[in-house]
Amino acid sequence: MTRSAPVKSNAAGQLILGIETTCDETAAAIVWRGVDGTGDIRSNIVHSQISEHTPYGGVVPEIAARAHVEALDGIIFAALKEAGCKFTDLDGVAVAAGPGLIGGVIVGLMTAKSICLVHNKPLLAVNHLEAHALTPRLTGGISFPYLVLLVSGGHTQLLLAHGVGKYERIGTTIDDALGEAFDKTAKLLGLGFPGGPAVEEAAKTGNGKRFKFPRPLSGRKDLHFSFSGLKTALRYAAQDLVPLGADDIADLCASFQEAVVDVITDRTGRAIETYGSDKNLPLVVAGGVAANQRLRQAITECAAAHNSELIMPPPELCTDNGAMIAWAGAERLALGLNDPLDFGPKARWPLDPDAVRAPGAGVKA
Ligand code: KG4
Ligand code: ZN
Repeated sequence: MTRSAPVKSNAAGQLILGIETTCDETAAAIVWRGVDGTGDIRSNIVHSQISEHTPYGGVVPEIAARAHVEALDGIIFAALKEAGCKFTDLDGVAVAAGPGLIGGVIVGLMTAKSICLVHNKPLLAVNHLEAHALTPRLTGGISFPYLVLLVSGGHTQLLLAHGVGKYERIGTTIDDALGEAFDKTAKLLGLGFPGGPAVEEAAKTGNGKRFKFPRPLSGRKDLHFSFSGLKTALRYAAQDLVPLGADDIADLCASFQEAVVDVITDRTGRAIETYGSDKNLPLVVAGGVAANQRLRQAITECAAAHNSELIMPPPELCTDNGAMIAWAGAERLALGLNDPLDFGPKARWPLDPDAVRAPGAGVKA
């Protein structure tokens, strides 16, 4: 097995390049982690591929991979320049090695390995989901253990974070991820891509009480989620109204968002009651959907009602970015962990491989 370069000890801390290419954002960042555990984002450049995918109404994996190839080098050099450093100044190169669209993951991983080989730097193969879950340690300096609500385009999970690389999945979606439900709703209503921000925008002028959409799995003892029934209910409501006016679309989006918020706060509230309240576990909310302002407001109220400390990264660090990858790499490096240069890309990479499958869960859960 080919080992990565040996870790050199740096008394003050570590400077890490982070590379993210798992979906439709090509991103690179330079992050400093001091030995005291504090972080500093020196640069964070995110190039969205929205315009490449818009004609198809969603992310096309092959187009995404090709677009990463074209953009990544320039973005890495821009991140180095903005941070005022060179490859030789780095203490390690972190890259999201999965889970994600395999073509894009390969582009990022091969690029990171090349930099490591040429400059003799340690490779840090980061789990993209772990990077979301660790971001609050960069922005909020929070210590383990904590509760995580992870809401992204591909995942919706409740986790107990015990340490770097140590997660216990206590709840998951049994069908669609929350971001996926937002994206499908937007597509159905002709709001374009990416769907989450479009639904949030349309909902601002809508009446969230007009449609009585279901709150799937709410009130149940377990901590699982389901969004496909909600999506279907919205589809039927929209079909009944054709042709849809702007007010109808706004009301559908607002009613959908209110249903989502009720489900998320019900499930998260129960997680705090089950795991958090007696141990005073702080609650962390991460992933792209955590950029949604209505959700942030509702979660803030939910955490306050349960006397729970809440840490949510700023919206631009909830959606995919290179800083979170660099930080997760820095956390690993600080523990003396790094990865061999033959580390393989992973389309699927659960944070808790031993988690029991949720009852009724489909193949994606
Ligand atoms: O974490 P992320 O950037 O990528 C993945 O790891 O999947 O999450 C992307 C998801 C998409 O489904 C997108 O529509 C959703 O996050 N999203 C939002 C908002 N911003 C991004 N959903 C609702 N409201 C938003 N403001
Ligand atoms: Zn993500």
